[in-house]
Amino acid sequence: MKVTISDAIRYIGVDDTTIDLFESQYVVPEGVSYNSYLILDEKVALMDTVDARGAEAWEKNLMDTLAGRKVDYLVISHLEPDHAGSIGRLVELFPEVTLVGNAKTFAMLPQFFPDGVMECEKLTVKEGDTLSLGSHTLTFVMAPMVHWPEVMVSYESSEKVLFSADGFGKFGALSLTEDADWACEARRYYFNIVGKYGNPVQALLKKAAGLDIATICPLHGPVLKENLGYYIGLYDTWSKYEPESKGVLVAYASIHGNTKKVAEALGQMLREKGVEKVVVSDLAREDMAEVIEDAFRYDRMVLCAASYDGGVFPCMQDFLHHLQSKAYQKRTIGMVENGSWAPCAAKAMREIVDTFKDVTVVEPLVTIRSTMKDSDRKTMEALATAIAEA
Ligand code: FEO
Repeated sequence: MKVTISDAIRYIGVDDTTIDLFESQYVVPEGVSYNSYLILDEKVALMDTVDARGAEAWEKNLMDTLAGRKVDYLVISHLEPDHAGSIGRLVELFPEVTLVGNAKTFAMLPQFFPDGVMECEKLTVKEGDTLSLGSHTLTFVMAPMVHWPEVMVSYESSEKVLFSADGFGKFGALSLTEDADWACEARRYYFNIVGKYGNPVQALLKKAAGLDIATICPLHGPVLKENLGYYIGLYDTWSKYEPESKGVLVAYASIHGNTKKVAEALGQMLREKGVEKVVVSDLAREDMAEVIEDAFRYDRMVLCAASYDGGVFPCMQDFLHHLQSKAYQKRTIGMVENGSWAPCAAKAMREIVDTFKDVTVVEPLVTIRSTMKDSDRKTMEALATAIAEA
């Protein structure tokens, strides 16, 4: 995949179109890219390596682009193996390379590379330190917990390029997603991977606001060159946990289809009451990461679940635990439970929902006995009205 940044700053990353699950948990039907960049100046800096899965293709890109030169510096923005996975190979190729990282990088590095790599020259940088490559100068900006503690981003001032690590990353191999909408898979990536770390992202955005940025080079997904305010604005909304759109996610956990019918009927009531956008999702079958994305995208959510084993049907429990771990907050929630002999789903859901910050649970709670009947519609309408007007 040909990605153009400038004569001096070159893309040498690779697409992974055969991975089954990114991080062993996220389906990526269009794959993912592991981005890596070279800055060719009097000195040559390599901005991160790639996952070992892409090492062979990356090495070819690297050597072709170097055209006989050597790598002087390897800037390690992030030690997670999808980026650091080829550091060992880089050091084999260029044993005289200087590794550039911060104190946390070098504290963790031997955990991943107990041999060899640690013998390289190391340059430990801290907030605001600079590295001159000739006409290009990198300034290092610490970004702890965007996504790991050692993360740092680098700003190249002559071309106004921000190397943003996982920030502004997106699922999707570049060769398969050239014309794709950015926000869809960037949002799913953000909330599922970085979502827990809203405050650190806010801290980074505040630092970035002081930089004149023309190009963002993330470690996944496309290089961003135009309309940067759009991407930065979305990151600001997402990291503040503010809803991006008015709408309702109706997430259901149904065993035999009866709770599904309630969820669909409730979705229809919400539409009839004028709710801007209603998404009805089956937690047992749909991509959990996609439903999590929608939970954060919209300002309201209705949970519809069957009772099960004295609690709630497991896919709902799993969903709520995911939201809990991603710091879900600042939303309005309604609840529907179904039970044939002892409805208890709402109590189990409430125990988790009550741990969310700044969440309002609206009344009434709808309790269905096995199947939805005409007599249930009045309470369902009341819940739909409360949600529509929230
Ligand atoms: Fe793309 Fe946190 O690694």
